[in-house]
Amino acid sequence: MAAVAVDGVSWRIGAVPIVDDVTLRLEPGEFMALIGPNGAGKTSLFNLISGLRRPSSGRILLGGDDVSTLAPYRRARLGLGRTFQTSAVFGSLTVAENVALAVQARQGGAMRAWRKRADRDIAVRTDKILAEVRLTERAMRLAGSLAHGEKRKLEIALLLAGEPRVLLLDEPMAGVSAEEVPALVAVVRELTADTGRSVLMVEHHMDVVLDVADRVAVLHHGALLACDTPDAVMSDPFVQEAYLGEDL
Ligand SMILES: Nc1ncnc2c1ncn2[C@@H]1O[C@H](COP(=O)(O)OP(=O)(O)OP(=O)(O)O)[C@@H](O)[C@H]1O
Ligand SMILES: [Mg+2]
Repeated sequence: MAAVAVDGVSWRIGAVPIVDDVTLRLEPGEFMALIGPNGAGKTSLFNLISGLRRPSSGRILLGGDDVSTLAPYRRARLGLGRTFQTSAVFGSLTVAENVALAVQARQGGAMRAWRKRADRDIAVRTDKILAEVRLTERAMRLAGSLAHGEKRKLEIALLLAGEPRVLLLDEPMAGVSAEEVPALVAVVRELTADTGRSVLMVEHHMDVVLDVADRVAVLHHGALLACDTPDAVMSDPFVQEAYLGEDL
C-alpha cells in the first residue's frame, strides 16, 4: 500500500489549473524528489497533500486512508510531517530544549505520578533525535546561534519529534551555504534508511536530487511530466525539452 497516493488531483484558481490532474504514489521507505521550474506547482502540491489546500478534484490517500477532506493537524496525527517554518524554532532556547518541547507536545502533557518517567522518556527521545540529525554536539547551543544548515537540521529534528511516517521537505537546502550542503544531505539521505519512512522532497540542486532520490517526479505547468528513476528521468526527451535553457 502506498504511503501517499495522489489520485487525479487538480487544484484550480478560477479556471487556471495550478496543479493539473496529478497522479503519483510514494511507496513506504521511498525517497522521491519533486522537481520542476519556478511556478510549476511543487509547493501547491505539498499544500494539497498536507491539507492546507483542498483539491478542486481528485483524492489524497495516506496509508490507504482517504484524507482529502481532513484538516492538516489530523493528517499530521496520521503520520504526515512537513518542515516547520523557521519561526517554529525558539532562538532563545537551546537546541535540546527545542527538540524536547516538540517531543513533549507529541506525547501530550505528562502529569502526576508518571511525570518522572515521562521526563526520562522525553530526554531519551530527544537525544535519539539529535543524534539522527547529527546535532548532538550542538545540543546546549542556543538555537538562534546556529548556522543556516544547522537550523535546517533542527527543523527536521522538530519534525521527527512528531514521529512521521511521511516527510514533506520543501527545498531544505535553500539558503544553506555550499560548505554546509554535504552535511545536510547526509542527514536528509538517512531519513528513509532502515526506518520505513518515506520522503518527498522539493529540491533545485540536481546533484543533491541525483544523489538521494530513488525516483524523481517532474512537474511542469502543474502537470506530472515524468516519474521514474533519476537516470530515466534525466534521459527523458520530454523532460529535456521542457527544461531546455531552464534552471531546474
Ligand atoms: N494562493 C495563490 N493564489 C494565486 N496563485 C497562486 C497561489 N498559490 C500559488 N499560485 C500560483 O501557482 C503557481 C505555482 O506556484 P507554486 O508555489 O506551487 O510553485 P513552485 O513549483 O513551488 O515554485 P517555486 O520553485 O518558485 O517554489 C505559480 O504560478 C503561483 O503564482
Ligand atoms: Mg515552491
